[in-house]
Amino acid sequence: MNVLFSPTILEEFLKIRFDDLDYTKLRDLADKHKVPSLEENACVAVSNIVSIKKPKQSIEIGSGIGMSTLSILKGYGKTEIICIDGNLERHLIHSEYFKSYTNVSTIQMRGESYLAVDDKFYDFAFIDSVKREYRSLYHKIKPRLNANAVIIFDDILVYGYIACEESETPYKYKNNREEMLNFLNELKDDKDILSMQIIPVSGGLLVLSMS
Ligand SMILES: C[S@@+](CC[C@H](N)C(=O)[O-])C[C@H]1O[C@@H](n2cnc3c(N)ncnc32)[C@H](O)[C@@H]1O
Repeated sequence: MNVLFSPTILEEFLKIRFDDLDYTKLRDLADKHKVPSLEENACVAVSNIVSIKKPKQSIEIGSGIGMSTLSILKGYGKTEIICIDGNLERHLIHSEYFKSYTNVSTIQMRGESYLAVDDKFYDFAFIDSVKREYRSLYHKIKPRLNANAVIIFDDILVYGYIACEESETPYKYKNNREEMLNFLNELKDDKDILSMQIIPVSGGLLVLSMS
């Protein structure tokens, strides 16, 4: 695949602004504080999956200021969701934005630390933290999943470079590309995964349906 045609690059071309108004306030906050947040097309994909799944209990690791949280709630507004982010400023913005939602808990902590003390079981997980931690987070969250849970990892395509040769990959993406490929290869042999799909919106959503 040519990087010029990676989904990330095409995002501007493909952008269809569903329900844009609902996201405007958070998008403005993301711009103001210069923080990364889930792009519109990925938000719509997440909402669609959640609307089918209707998870009772959800967890997010790397919830940032809450764009992804909002997309999950748009999919199923009744889900009980725990939103974890290690960054204090983003956690405070998230807490303020969702303060009136009784089903949203916002926690400032590293995802791994939270999972080590957590005793809940989840129907849906959204992971959008540091990419090199995806593999270890997957192994930590797996024992905490209910039957038929769905996990989504964001930015799995590493700007399209996972489909390129190593020699074509800029130095700064080489490690991420290799780690992501190793992670994907490992998942292919995971007997607990019923289906695995990469949805090429934004940076790429990896969707795992668990047994
Ligand atoms: C791409 S941003 C998340 C954007 C967010 N999902 C949204 O749509 O608004 C990644 C976030 O992951 C957080 N993060 C990175 N590693 C983490 C970890 N190990 N545990 C918890 N949060 C982490 C960062 O602080 C950052 O806010």
